[in-house]
Amino acid sequence: MQNIFNFFFTKATVAKPHFEFQEKEMNEIIQKNRQSLSLIDNWIDESAFSKSFFNYGVPDFIKTDINRQINHSATYTDLMVYLSAKHFKKVNYLEIGVSVGKNFFQLLESQHNSTFTGFDIEEINPVIEKLLILKEKKEWSTPSGSIKKTNSSLKKFDYKGMNVDYMCADVWDENSWAKLQGNKFNLVFSDALHSSKAILFEFEMLVKYDLLDDKFVIIWDDLIGKMKKAFFRIIKKYDKKYQIKDIYLLSINGWVGEHEGAHTVGVISNFPL
Ligand SMILES: C[S@@+](CC[C@H](N)C(=O)[O-])C[C@H]1O[C@@H](n2cnc3c(N)ncnc32)[C@H](O)[C@@H]1O
Repeated sequence: MQNIFNFFFTKATVAKPHFEFQEKEMNEIIQKNRQSLSLIDNWIDESAFSKSFFNYGVPDFIKTDINRQINHSATYTDLMVYLSAKHFKKVNYLEIGVSVGKNFFQLLESQHNSTFTGFDIEEINPVIEKLLILKEKKEWSTPSGSIKKTNSSLKKFDYKGMNVDYMCADVWDENSWAKLQGNKFNLVFSDALHSSKAILFEFEMLVKYDLLDDKFVIIWDDLIGKMKKAFFRIIKKYDKKYQIKDIYLLSINGWVGEHEGAHTVGVISNFPL
C-alpha cells in the first residue's frame, strides 16, 4: 500500500530558474573577483600542458580566450562567492575538476579563514602552485585501469594562512576518494568529467566517505542532456537522506565570462538559500 502511495504522491522535483541576488553585495563580489583574475597574466603553462592528460580540460576555443578580461555579468564563480558570504562563516570547499585554477584561485582570494581542496587528474597548474607554500606531499599508486599512468598524490599547501589541499588523482579511483575522509565540505563544485555516470559516482563517493557537512551547497556545471537527468536522479535518490531544500537550474556565465555562451549550472542545498 505504501509503495502505491509513493508512486502516486512522490514530491515533484522543480528547479528554480532564477536566483535573486542582493545587488550591492553581488556587485562588490564581482569587482573583487575581477581584481583577483587580474593578478594572473597568463593561466597557461605550456610545459605543464605538454605533459597533461586533457590539456587541463581547456579546449582550443577556450584557450584563446582564457586570459581575456571579462565583464561584470555574474559568473558561476561570483555565484559561489555570493553563497559563501551569505551562508558560511568558514567555507570548506571542494572543487572536482580544477583545470588551470581560474575558479579555484578566485575562491581562494575571496576568503580569509577557509579551507580548500582541489581534485583533478592533472598536476596542479604551476601558475597557481608557485603562489602556494608546500607543506607536505603524499603519493600512492594509481589503479592500472586508469588513464592516469603516474602516481596519484595529495599536496598540502598554505595560502595566506589557509590550508589548501590538491589531490592529483582520477575521479574514478575510489581509493583516492578515501583519502579525503575526515573532511566535511560545505561547498562543492563538480566540474570534472561531464558525464552522467561520473557525477552519479562522485555523489556516491561524497556519501560513502561522509564528506558533506551538516549544511551544504553543491554546484554542478554543464547540466545539459543526460547530465541534467543525472542531476535530478541524484536529488531523487538522496532527498530522503539529505532533505534537499533548494534546487536551482541557472543559466550563468562560466570561466571565460561573456566570451562563450552561458553555462547551465545546477545548485542544491539542504537549507534555504
Ligand atoms: C572544465 S575543466 C574545470 C574548470 C574549472 N572548474 C574552472 O571553473 O576553472 C575540467 C577538469 O576536469 C578534469 N578531469 C577530467 N577527467 C577527470 C578525471 N577522470 N579525474 C579527475 N579530473 C578529471 C580535467 O583535467 C580538467 O582540468
